[in-house]
Amino acid sequence: MNQDQLKQAVAQAAIDYILPHLEPRSIIGVGTGSTANFFIDLLAQHKYDFAGAVASSEATAERLKNHGISVHDLNSVQELEFYVDGADECNKHLELIKGGGAALTREKIVAAVAKTFICIADVSKKVSVLGEFPLPVEVIPMARSYVARELLKLGGDPVYRTGVVTDNGNVILDVHNMHITDPRGLEEKINGLVGVVCSGLFALRPADVLLLGTSAGVETLVREK
Ligand code: A5P
Repeated sequence: MNQDQLKQAVAQAAIDYILPHLEPRSIIGVGTGSTANFFIDLLAQHKYDFAGAVASSEATAERLKNHGISVHDLNSVQELEFYVDGADECNKHLELIKGGGAALTREKIVAAVAKTFICIADVSKKVSVLGEFPLPVEVIPMARSYVARELLKLGGDPVYRTGVVTDNGNVILDVHNMHITDPRGLEEKINGLVGVVCSGLFALRPADVLLLGTSAGVETLVREK
């Protein structure tokens, strides 16, 4: 199986996971990226079984609307049973690095609201220690150099992602060479830097379920609470 087939398989597994729970009033949180796109395209086949979606990016909102799925403002949503999204890296604790597509802040907000965060990823994303994938950090533009200096002190090598402005009007620093042995501690430290909007570490709010695409089939990992 190639990577796209693995993404397709985990997207289908997410559909199978949520489908029995969908009701006409259900709103689903939908993530961003190529794996999430497979999910959106499959979700469209069931668009009459639920009320609509909350999107984690403008790109996802556009794709949902193109399929005729109604997109809701998170502020008008009382309850979000599921959030389905990809990841750039995941570990066995279902802690993640996200933000390769620059949508990390909205993704983290939707994940915070959702009762169940289902991460869908192909096996290439699974690592024993997070940090090989450069950690994205969304920063208020005027704080970019200050935050970069502070990230250096935390042991990383921040690189400004040139030409990228997030949906929130901010910039991204990608922090290279982090060997993240304490994801929760590092997330707290980065959150504490003035000018940081959000880091792509999802450790304080990890996924609840990881559907991992392997050549032998889709593995389901459930986080112990
Ligand atoms: C978007 O900002 C990211 O968090 C994506 O969820 C992540 O980059 C995974 O994308 P792919 O599914 O395209 O690998």
